[in-house]
Amino acid sequence: MSSSKNTRFIASPGGQLSGRIRVPGDKSISHRSIMLGAITEGTTHVSGFLEGEDNLSTLNAFRAMGVSIDGPQAGQVTIHGVGLHGLKAPAGPLDVGNAGTAMRLLAGLLAAQDFDVTLTGDSSLSSRPMRRVTEPLAQMGARIDTTEAGTPPLHIHGGARLQGIDFQMKVASAQVKSCLLLAGLYAEGQTCVTEPAPTRDHTERMLEGFGYPVQRDGSRICVKSGGGLTACDIDVPADISSAAFFMVGASIAEGSDLTLEHVGINPTRIGVINILRAMGGHIDILNERTAGGEPVADIRIRASALHGIDIPEDQVPLAIDEFPALFIAAACAEGPTVLTGARELRVKESDRIQVMADGLNTLGIDARPTEDGIVIQPGTIGSGQVDSHGDHRIAMAFAMAALRATGPIEISDCANVNTSFPGFVELAGGCGLSIAVLD
Ligand code: S3P
Repeated sequence: MSSSKNTRFIASPGGQLSGRIRVPGDKSISHRSIMLGAITEGTTHVSGFLEGEDNLSTLNAFRAMGVSIDGPQAGQVTIHGVGLHGLKAPAGPLDVGNAGTAMRLLAGLLAAQDFDVTLTGDSSLSSRPMRRVTEPLAQMGARIDTTEAGTPPLHIHGGARLQGIDFQMKVASAQVKSCLLLAGLYAEGQTCVTEPAPTRDHTERMLEGFGYPVQRDGSRICVKSGGGLTACDIDVPADISSAAFFMVGASIAEGSDLTLEHVGINPTRIGVINILRAMGGHIDILNERTAGGEPVADIRIRASALHGIDIPEDQVPLAIDEFPALFIAAACAEGPTVLTGARELRVKESDRIQVMADGLNTLGIDARPTEDGIVIQPGTIGSGQVDSHGDHRIAMAFAMAALRATGPIEISDCANVNTSFPGFVELAGGCGLSIAVLD
């Protein structure tokens, strides 16, 4: 697929999804594998690495800071770690593109280095809120400049002496938590983060996998500086956030029977399974096992008659990236679906509440945004042109909608699908959803 901003998808209507597929590696775990591998003493081998643009931004950022990294090649990456204090000043700003995770986690990791560094991003990332990380980092003693609006670029002043803090997060955000834990590796004393609701815990798990002690006491997670990381091998499971599009597609398209292999089913990520099941989805979790400290399984999805629900708010952080896909499921269900407590969706790669509502409305579905969620009345999905606003997950969600549409769905600004899901069009085509790509 070209990386042109004008990349458009035309998804053909109808069909069903069937067969066995493996979606690409987990984006969150792939980011962390590079970050922690880089600050480890020794060599870390990663398999199943997601070669999406977001993760390549992270990889290139560490190369620019003097870390030697082989690959990626067919998902294999070898990182020659430089230790906690071995990163070097990059020659220029680090551009992390569309990757919010890269920017927020790097802010924590780089806040205590002895060099200055500037983090920049694309137009979407440049409008996303960064005070949620720069304010607690400032409490720790970091000196980081943002724009007046609290957005990127981030100018991190080197040489700061960080102090551990005990931080109560206001938003349930794994990016904020991870940022502070990474800063905590360098801060004097203990750094603790308490989360208002469970969020993905890949940082904690991976730190433990690298032999770094992490104290977890309910919603409070603490690290102390002074430890070291020991190199290890990381097997990245398939990304449940990418699998989610196919879970929804197979649920809504009559006759579907699809198995997704080796998917990460970390309990902090399975909101999409819980929500689809609550809607009547027919989902079997098969062959559960552990890979690289993370639970994985094969997931079989068969088409089913879904019904609308009031989505429990405790599922929101567990499905935070899956709502574009879940809104398509809601449009195909029997009875309304109501989402509340999901204001965070407004500050993702796009305002996912507004952009999904606009697209659904264009296709003839009554979808009404609320301040912190949406109300979707199901209906017949029509043909039409929708704008993804450069948001990968919006583009893929509307592609899946075509399985139930009365005519083709044209989606604009789809190049960013490559940030998280290179090969999406080909994989979808192989199991029954035909998408033409136009530039
Ligand atoms: C991520 C955390 C989530 C998620 C993002 C990846 C991570 O963001 O939306 O795609 O890897 O930590 P928040 O923590 O801001 O909710």
